[in-house]
Amino acid sequence: MEGMPSIAVVGATGAVGRECLSILEARRFPHRSIRLLASARSAGARVRFAGEERAVEELGPRSFEGIDLAFFAAGAGVAREFVPRATAAGSIVIDKSSAFRADPWAVLAIPEVNRAALRGVARGSVVAVPNCSTIILLVAIEPLRRFGVERVVVSTYQAASGAGAQAMQELEDQTRDVLAGRPATPRVFAEPCAFNVFSHDSAIDPATGLNAEEAKFTSETRRLWGESGEGGGGGVRINATCVRVPVMRGHSESVCLTLGRAVREVEVRAALTAGESIEVVDERGGNRFPTPLRASGGDQVLVGRIRADVTQGVEPGGACRGWNLFVSGDQLRLGAALTAVKIAEELVGVESKQSTNRT
Ligand SMILES: NC(=O)c1ccc[n+]([C@@H]2O[C@H](COP(=O)([O-])OP(=O)(O)OC[C@H]3O[C@@H](n4cnc5c(N)ncnc54)[C@H](OP(=O)(O)O)[C@@H]3O)[C@@H](O)[C@H]2O)c1
Repeated sequence: MEGMPSIAVVGATGAVGRECLSILEARRFPHRSIRLLASARSAGARVRFAGEERAVEELGPRSFEGIDLAFFAAGAGVAREFVPRATAAGSIVIDKSSAFRADPWAVLAIPEVNRAALRGVARGSVVAVPNCSTIILLVAIEPLRRFGVERVVVSTYQAASGAGAQAMQELEDQTRDVLAGRPATPRVFAEPCAFNVFSHDSAIDPATGLNAEEAKFTSETRRLWGESGEGGGGGVRINATCVRVPVMRGHSESVCLTLGRAVREVEVRAALTAGESIEVVDERGGNRFPTPLRASGGDQVLVGRIRADVTQGVEPGGACRGWNLFVSGDQLRLGAALTAVKIAEELVGVESKQSTNRT
């Protein structure tokens, strides 16, 4: 892409879209114009960007005329209908939904993991951003891939905001209601989300018992790592359990790895400390470890509780193939909007990738 792109943000009024705007502004993403798009419900609403109130337009068939780069953050249904219109108009699309992640003609990318996949992305192409939980896991364990990652057991603690702006409102309203002695009324989720923990709200495959969030860990990771064999074939084996917790923002994950060779704790710590977009938070003395609150508003995935899984056997020098981690990341930022903007920076060749941490 040559020159400063004209950009569009589809879903500009949503949780990810608003975060995307704030990150584009904070990182001074180069652009010559910006178009804010959402549904008819929001047409005419004003959204603040770069110090100005801007009008939101209703997404329509001609929304992408003259647009070089389109960020989509409006769900898979909207993406399936409008991404083809954007690519037909010559835009490069960066889509946050699950619509195209498995399509071989679309690029699936996380800059920290497979930056090379973004080389040569041309006009009319689609770059799919992986699932938020997958991004947080893969950024955290990328430095350990040098030891070979053969198997991952991951359990998630996912925030309400992962289901969008209405889910955030639901958690807030229900918390108030319960504290005032009123019953919690679920609208977005099937279960009460205040003061509760429940299985992830994505669809469950009746044959496998896996919900869609759990299945994405395996399919997306294998694709991002360039491994073949979905299901039982080659590639990393991932056993996931995904649940929602009454947290407003920031997903956490308990991760247990089986590495290809036994390594010592000092090697694991050194690799993680040098990792891209990782902050090690692991103070055993003070019991200070990653939390979603600590991760919230930040650009890094926080990694801690670094310890050997002794059930996988420890060699006399302390080396082990099994390693446990606890990680937290802001899924609206690193898990969605920030990764989308970093992909855009790769595409337009932005050199300075300054930290946009708000904490
Ligand atoms: N939330 C997360 O943490 C997260 C993380 C990773 C990926 N994602 C993905 O990002 C996408 C957006 O999620 P979100 O959490 O930001 O959802 P959200 O808060 O519910 O926002 C949805 C956005 O899409 C717009 N929209 C809905 N229907 C539309 C239509 N027919 N035409 C045009 N715009 C429409 C909404 O506009 P109105 O305001 O006009 O309704 C709103 O701006 C989803 O694909 C989601 O899976 C979300």
